[in-house]
Amino acid sequence: MFAWHKIKKIKKTVALRKNSFRLFLQVGVYIFIYYVAISLTQIYEHTEKICSRVLRIPGRTALHRDWTPFSSFNLSDYIQKFEESSLLVPSGLCEKHSLVTIFVTSPVNGFRQRQRIRKSWGNTSNFNYPAFFKMHGHLKGFYYPPSKNRMVLYGKYLSAKEETLRASVRVVFIVGRHQRTTLNNRATIRKLRKESDIYNDVIQEDFVDTFNNLTLKSVMALKHFNKKCFDTSAYFLKADDDSFVNVPNLIHILLGGTLPAYKPHHKMQIRLTATSGVFLGHELSDIKPIRQMCNKFHVPQYIYPEAVFPRYLSGSGYLMSRDVARQLYEAAWHTEIIPLEDVFITGLCSLNAKLNPVHSPLFSLRKVQDLCDFRENIVQHFFKDPNKKREWHNMTNNQIKCK
Ligand SMILES: *[C@@H]1O[C@H](CO)[C@@H](O)[C@H](O)[C@H]1NC(C)=O
Ligand SMILES: *[C@@H]1O[C@H](CO)[C@@H](O)[C@H](O)[C@H]1NC(C)=O
Ligand SMILES: *[C@@H]1O[C@H](CO)[C@@H](O)[C@H](O)[C@H]1NC(C)=O
Ligand SMILES: *[C@@H]1O[C@H](CO)[C@@H](O)[C@H](O)[C@H]1NC(C)=O
Repeated sequence: MFAWHKIKKIKKTVALRKNSFRLFLQVGVYIFIYYVAISLTQIYEHTEKICSRVLRIPGRTALHRDWTPFSSFNLSDYIQKFEESSLLVPSGLCEKHSLVTIFVTSPVNGFRQRQRIRKSWGNTSNFNYPAFFKMHGHLKGFYYPPSKNRMVLYGKYLSAKEETLRASVRVVFIVGRHQRTTLNNRATIRKLRKESDIYNDVIQEDFVDTFNNLTLKSVMALKHFNKKCFDTSAYFLKADDDSFVNVPNLIHILLGGTLPAYKPHHKMQIRLTATSGVFLGHELSDIKPIRQMCNKFHVPQYIYPEAVFPRYLSGSGYLMSRDVARQLYEAAWHTEIIPLEDVFITGLCSLNAKLNPVHSPLFSLRKVQDLCDFRENIVQHFFKDPNKKREWHNMTNNQIKCK
């Protein structure tokens, strides 16, 4: 008897080997394809230039990544006008009076940047009006002090006097939620809850937190202001989380003072006398929508067909009196959504409400040259530097003077 079964066995193992080799190859190919796909999407997300070279899609017909022609552009499909919908809200939000309530839009996992703000300009118990004299006191006589009228008018927001004067200013962060609840995201949520327990300054809203949903976030800020802060706050300020808000300067301006004219353009400063209809920021005009698909700011024609945007204020920071905040919130319900929040709120809604946004040179978009840029403005764009700690140190170091 020849060992037939042995031959069969050998044949079997050869076949098995062949099979497993094929399987191995297939898995390898799948993994390879997977990584290529991942890197392609990463390239697509992170490098607009490569993207626009590879995907030469004509801008006019290009689809927006998140807002397709089938999306609803009606706010009421995303936000409820009056009903509470927040996942997290600071307890007692706006129960106390604040001269101004500052809403900082922040991504749900933006822990580090929020902490930076809390430790620097956002600590309004530390960085309050007395710091004004540290920064500018040596130029007394070269700027207008607060006006008496406004000091009386806003008396309920103020305490102490002269160089120890303080104003109540509230800073809150507004974040969205994750698309999916993965394990990783659950950890983030736990961290966020803890953060909120400690600092009581986080509003979390029930919509997906993406760049293209920033419009919903800003409308949410207006909603909270109108619902909870309207009777207790005189002003609303929206800031990006990479903006630096010079709170002492802000208080000084709201009380009717001016800053020393450090730079020629500072001479354009106005002394605030109005208490309603105030709507200030860095004006942008004649801005054309970007029609390239790969650009972060892409706005296709089906979202906004006109050739230019109406005049608007940069989203890095805009300030308004409470009546303006109310009118903008009302107008938002009759204005079609566009993914750029500043164009939407300060351009389109403002146009619908027949409001007048005004340029102020104190809202700076220029690149930061030195710490004086932080001292000489109300809002300075781009506070996101590794040197931040030292910058902050210098900021409040009254040995260092700006000219
Ligand atoms: C804010 O400043 C006060 C007074 O200097 C300090 O006690 C407090 O710890 C600071 N808060 C944060 C979050 O750094
Ligand atoms: C914005 O949020 C809504 C509601 O959560 C969600 O359905 C939508 O996909 C989000 N849009 C973008 C552009 O992320
Ligand atoms: C959104 O829908 C509501 C109710 O259906 C309507 O009153 C409102 O005018 C719509 N808004 C826009 C911008 O079309
Ligand atoms: C802070 O001040 C020190 C000493 O005056 C200076 O050397 C340093 O460059 C300053 N840093 C920043 C970020 O302005």
